[in-house]
Amino acid sequence: MLTARLPQSEIDRAVEALRDGDLVAFPTETVYGLGADAQNPQAVRKVFEVKGRPASHPLIVHIHDTRALERWVLSVPPAAAQLAQAFWPGPLTLILPRAPAVDMAITGGQETVAVRVPRHPVAQQLLRAFGGGIVAPSANRYGQLSPTRAEHVRDELGDEVKVILDGGDCKIGVESTIVSCIGDVPRVLRPGAVTLTQLRQVVGNVEGSPGEAPPRVPGSSDKHYAPRTPLRVVESGRLEQELRKRTEKYRKTGVLAMRPPRSAGKFMTWINAGVRADVYARDLYSHLRTLDRSDVTEILVEEVPAGENWDAARDRLRRASEAGNTSPVDPDIAALLADFGEETGQP
Ligand code: TXA
Ligand code: MG
Repeated sequence: MLTARLPQSEIDRAVEALRDGDLVAFPTETVYGLGADAQNPQAVRKVFEVKGRPASHPLIVHIHDTRALERWVLSVPPAAAQLAQAFWPGPLTLILPRAPAVDMAITGGQETVAVRVPRHPVAQQLLRAFGGGIVAPSANRYGQLSPTRAEHVRDELGDEVKVILDGGDCKIGVESTIVSCIGDVPRVLRPGAVTLTQLRQVVGNVEGSPGEAPPRVPGSSDKHYAPRTPLRVVESGRLEQELRKRTEKYRKTGVLAMRPPRSAGKFMTWINAGVRADVYARDLYSHLRTLDRSDVTEILVEEVPAGENWDAARDRLRRASEAGNTSPVDPDIAALLADFGEETGQP
């Protein structure tokens, strides 16, 4: 597996591209980032253009270590310092008051800035060699699945990225936990590998925001983290039944489950992602890409368990299903409507 450091010559080429104002895709332990020099406003603009991301949606500044924070933030509240100490480098992003010098394009016009120190050795190599901050959203087009392999980036953005650093498969596979340290009590804006319990072990009081749609986090808009194929989350006990409803009408259907199918069947592509939360999260986007590329007309996802270890995966699946299923119609009726559409030639 390719998770070790890269030869310095590759890092140097990436650094040169960043200095030239070009984009560099690089691995982090969560997902691949689409990086640009955070101090070059044109380069920052290029990130928004290539991603097709609205200007109001802010970017994360990646830095090499906590000492580099000073350049980007106005102040570090005690809780933020404790969280940084405990979880950096790692899959945690902190929202802090922005320093005056931070380009407003990065922050989407806000007085706050998102900062993270990634742990991946190649991200560390790149940040150390570059010396400055690197803005990096996930290296996918706006609203699509985040990349967890270099080839995902190549497929989706290949021509528009100057250098793609290949650091192998991302170990975590879902985006960082975002914690806002603005206000009296730190608040989770996006669940990730660092859980609420782990955060509370460090700073005591932390607010979760399960299911809530926090403002200015585009990850909470319907379009996010979604495959192109409509996706529906189904209770485990109903999985085979829902599948049969579709396949008996010859509709090819994809399934992402935590177990093997109870019966074999035609017209289905079944992925058993297993019952381990960390493995499930690590492979989630890659599995959804696989199903998206197969010619299924719908993806059924077995509902994941309740525990907080599943929060990140559950959150991304909920958003993906909202994007894929614009109508809250009962699946039976939806199937009838789809049949009707097929017969009358309507979409
Ligand atoms: O794991 C990750 O966080 C990956 C890797 C590449 O670091 N990055 C990532 O970036 O997921 P992106 O741009 O796809 O998501 C960043 C999230 C967005 O939802 C954005 O709105 C939020 O961070 N964000 C950035 N600045 C913010 C701010 N000042 N206040 C609130 N949310 C902010
Ligand atoms: Mg993203």
